[in-house]
Amino acid sequence: MDNRVLIVDDDPGIRETISQLIEDLGYGCDTAPDGPDALAMMDSRSYLCVFTDIMMPKMTGLELIKKIKARDVSLPIIVITGYASLEIAIDAMKCGASDFLPKPFKMSQIQLLLSKVKREKSLLEQNRRFSDALQLHRIIDNLQGQLEDKNKEISSLQAISEKIISLKGIRDLVGAIVDVSKQLLENAEVMFYPLNRTTQMLMDTNGGQERLIQEDLLEGRIVRFDNTPLHGGRDFQTIFPLMIEGQVFGTLDIKTDTVLGDEKEGKILYLLHRSAERMENVALYEGLYENMLSTLKGMAKILDARDPHTSQHSTRVTNFSMAVANIINLSEEEKDVLYIAASLHDIGKVGIPDSILLKKGKLTDEEFMIIKKHPDIGADILKQLPPMARETEIIRYHHERFDGRGYPAGISGQEIPLLSRIITIADSYDAMTSDRPYRNGLSVDKAIEEIIRCTGNQFDPELAQIFIHKVIGS
Ligand SMILES: [Fe+2]
Repeated sequence: MDNRVLIVDDDPGIRETISQLIEDLGYGCDTAPDGPDALAMMDSRSYLCVFTDIMMPKMTGLELIKKIKARDVSLPIIVITGYASLEIAIDAMKCGASDFLPKPFKMSQIQLLLSKVKREKSLLEQNRRFSDALQLHRIIDNLQGQLEDKNKEISSLQAISEKIISLKGIRDLVGAIVDVSKQLLENAEVMFYPLNRTTQMLMDTNGGQERLIQEDLLEGRIVRFDNTPLHGGRDFQTIFPLMIEGQVFGTLDIKTDTVLGDEKEGKILYLLHRSAERMENVALYEGLYENMLSTLKGMAKILDARDPHTSQHSTRVTNFSMAVANIINLSEEEKDVLYIAASLHDIGKVGIPDSILLKKGKLTDEEFMIIKKHPDIGADILKQLPPMARETEIIRYHHERFDGRGYPAGISGQEIPLLSRIITIADSYDAMTSDRPYRNGLSVDKAIEEIIRCTGNQFDPELAQIFIHKVIGS
């Protein structure tokens, strides 16, 4: 804090007396003969307080007080007065003077005034610091609030992204768009209407009639309606187009009792944008996947055709496997994997020469060694196709045995993937009951006996029980 005082008085004697007293009290002191000089001095340094006379040439004391207060409202000003008239006192206080120094000047009076000024100034400083701190707190609170809102928004957007990315089918995605929209908007009624591309009408999946779509939606714009009835109630409708590859795929119809607003519309647009991206990928993926699958199934058919005795083998193994899958309640995803793996389980036989594959007599050990390579060959074919990673492993292990004496890896029990264990039973049963060049197929009863005999050695005991009792129905 500054410890210097400015004294303004046109009387040099008074300036001298007061400054002497003030210096004696341990304060620094400057003096000025008039207002303009005083203001000039205040330009170059700051003061603890100013003592000023009222009656001065060039500028009256009252004018000086006003000018000082215009620069720094917190600077205390003490009026030096020979006669403390009430009028002057009131005028000076109105202009911002904080106290008076009456004549004759006494050291004790000046000391009292200066300590009062110092105390007030210190309080003012504290108050300013406090209000600065308060202001800072308010700013921080406000920023924190904004940050929390942003975090919430980011995590809700992240949740949207995660949910969308985890979905595989278009139907799942549409369901998720509706679910996520309901979560984002409380008390909203949300419906999705797919667009029938042929009729250019919106389809009602709840069995209602097709209806016209607004031109704005077809052009990718949001449509908003205020359907508020005349007699009470509020009803707003916001319709978003879901665009995929530049074309409307359907519309998301949201009914709320307040206007949706920019923020919520923004979130829905983000959701639709992410969903559209995902749908484009899914459509691409499903297209590729379908193509790949039909190629592989074609290969399996060629394989069946090579060996007339085993024709339809892949189809029957698939049917038996799916029957087990339904009984043990596999998930839809597991069923999809099983269906493909069972259909293609012997695809590796494309790599086995006809001379061995179609041999009429019994196989030599050497030939059998070559036959035993077909699960690995099949897995190696599918390994080239990244979406088939799971099917690849199921196929690789379809000749493993529960006791670990199978091929190619010799793994046992639960180490063998469940879906491979299912295919093993279906495959063995069909091989046993089909005719071979060197033997006729076993009867169903004999085949069941054989499965019972091999339960725990070759086959998973639980699956064998299910196969015998629930699939073959014995
Ligand atoms: Fe096989």
